[in-house]
Amino acid sequence: MRVLVAGGTGFIGRRVVDELRKTGRHRLVVMTRDPARSRPVEDVEYVRGDVSDAASLEEATRGIEAVVHCVQFPNHPVESPSRGWTYEKVDGEGTERMVAACKENGVRRFVYLSGAGVRPGRTESWFKAKERAERAVMQSGMEYVIIRPSWIYGPDDRSMNKFVTFVKLLPVVPVIGSGQEQVQPVSVFDVAAVVARAVDEPAATNKVFELGSREPISMDGIMQTLMKVLGKQRPLVHQPAWLVKIPAALIQYLPNAPLSPGAVDFITMDERVDPSSAEHAFGVRFTPLEEGLRSYLRPVGAGSRS
Ligand SMILES: NC(=O)c1ccc[n+]([C@@H]2O[C@H](COP(=O)([O-])OP(=O)(O)OC[C@H]3O[C@@H](n4cnc5c(N)ncnc54)[C@H](OP(=O)(O)O)[C@@H]3O)[C@@H](O)[C@H]2O)c1
Repeated sequence: MRVLVAGGTGFIGRRVVDELRKTGRHRLVVMTRDPARSRPVEDVEYVRGDVSDAASLEEATRGIEAVVHCVQFPNHPVESPSRGWTYEKVDGEGTERMVAACKENGVRRFVYLSGAGVRPGRTESWFKAKERAERAVMQSGMEYVIIRPSWIYGPDDRSMNKFVTFVKLLPVVPVIGSGQEQVQPVSVFDVAAVVARAVDEPAATNKVFELGSREPISMDGIMQTLMKVLGKQRPLVHQPAWLVKIPAALIQYLPNAPLSPGAVDFITMDERVDPSSAEHAFGVRFTPLEEGLRSYLRPVGAGSRS
């Protein structure tokens, strides 16, 4: 099959491309806003496409049989409405535009990276946009697979790595929220393996799958596991979300701001997933957090690679 990975230059998309290359079964095309900036990968074609530009999507999806859609706006989860970097514009409208282009070009199958907790009636902007996107995908008439992962970590993520830096460099580790919020972190390698299989696994067709570790783990528990892996203990200092939102409301207008009030809500979410049907359908076992972190992190002072 000729498979297009939209967002194939991103954190998850690059791993999906790696997994699909390993199978040797598909001709791979990566969609990016700027092919000239992309680091070329052997046997992978790069095409231009921007979810805000319908004509570019029509062009990018021509001759494609399956699409993996894993696009996210830069500096997520901090939205920047003036630049069009919002859930509504990119996840919502952008996915609708991509689906329309795929239908126009007769794409047969669409694998969509959604998120944990998406369901009708949610009020947060990220849930509303993802729900809108999922609806467009499900009603498109294409075969679809919808993937809803919990928090994804890996060697070059933007979230867990912040805490790696805190543990290494700060005398205390700041944690926004109570530390009791439950998450089911999942390795990017596990996510990529599932997404790559979803491209041509008949049993996955027209289904929705949740991905995450089997057992929920609190934010404090995640920090304890991370410190154990890094071999460095630091006190955790909790900051109430409402308090952090005060400076966040001011700095959100800076270019590439590190926080906004919405981003504070996003990172303190408490969402559960049930990964059992994904484990069954794709024949995977989601790696427990400690094992997943040890696969790429080394104790501080022992030649850490990250
Ligand atoms: N990371 C997580 O923990 C997590 C958890 C659950 C769900 N997800 C979902 O997984 C998907 C991928 O996330 P990620 O973490 O891999 O994101 P990422 O690393 O930020 O990658 C985003 C990708 O989107 C592309 N992109 C950005 N703006 C675009 C636009 N206007 N038009 C077309 N492409 C555009 C970028 O490509 P160029 O810059 O090359 O154009 C890049 O390849 C998202 O839908 C996200 O909601 C992520």
